Amino acid sequence: MRKPIIAGNWKMFKTVSEAVSFFSEVKGAAEVDGVESVICAPYTTLPALVEAAKGTSIAIGAQNLHFEDNGAFTGEISGVMLSDLGVKYVIVGHSERRAYFAETDEIVGKKVHAAFKHGLTPILCVGEKLEEREAGETKNVCKVQTEAAFQGLSAEQAAQVVIAYEPIWAIGTGKSSTSEDAEDVIAYIREVVKGLYDASVADAVRIQYGGSVKPNNVREYLSQSNIDGALVGGASLEPASYISLVEGAK
Ligand code: G3P
Repeated sequence: MRKPIIAGNWKMFKTVSEAVSFFSEVKGAAEVDGVESVICAPYTTLPALVEAAKGTSIAIGAQNLHFEDNGAFTGEISGVMLSDLGVKYVIVGHSERRAYFAETDEIVGKKVHAAFKHGLTPILCVGEKLEEREAGETKNVCKVQTEAAFQGLSAEQAAQVVIAYEPIWAIGTGKSSTSEDAEDVIAYIREVVKGLYDASVADAVRIQYGGSVKPNNVREYLSQSNIDGALVGGASLEPASYISLVEGAK
C-alpha cells in the first residue's frame, strides 16, 4: 500500500525565526502514524528546519534545485548543497517555476535526475493551464510533462518519484478541482507511468493532488483510490492548519 504524503509548499514565505516557531508548534502534532509529512521551505530556512526536525518524523524539502552540481550559475543552489544540509525532498517543475523562470520539460527532466544523483526524492509537479483544460488538453499536457520528466529513470527511481498533479487554475485561487476530476486525471497519470514501466512501478508511485487544498477538503481528495496525498501552498503556512492537513490524511 502507498503511504499518504502531505507536503507543505511554503513558496516565498517565512523568515528563519518564523520557520522555527512554526516547527515548534507542529512538532509531535503533525507526526501521524501512517502519514508522511514534509515541509518544503525557502532555502534560507533549511539549515534551521533540518536541525529542528532531527529526531522527528517530519521531513524537510526544498522547492527547487539546479541540475548542475557546481558552476558559474549566480544565485542557484544545487543538489549537492541540499543533500549536504540533510534535505530529503525537492519540488521540481512547479508551475510557478515553469511560468516565471522559463523551466522547460527538458530542464525539469534534468532536475529530476539531479535530485536522484544526490539522494533527494523529487516531488514532480505536472498540470494544465485553464485554457488547456478548456481545450480538452488536460490529460495530454500531463502525459507530455510526465513522460519528459521520467525520461531515462530506472524503474527503481521511477517508483520513488512523488508526482503532484496541480491544475494551474486551481493554485491559490480557492477554485479546487472536484475530487472526481482530480481522481480521473491522477488515475490517467498512473496509466502513463504504467505505459513507461509496468504495473508494479505504477502501483508504487505516489501521486498527490495540489490546488486550493484545505483542512476541510483534504479528506475528500484522499478518499479517492488513486490520490495519495496533497501538495499544499496557502493552507500549509499556519501551524493549526498544517496539523489538520496531516491528520486529515490518516
Ligand atoms: O505547490 C502547492 C500549490 O501550488 C498549491 O497552492 O495555495 O492553492 O494550496 P495552494
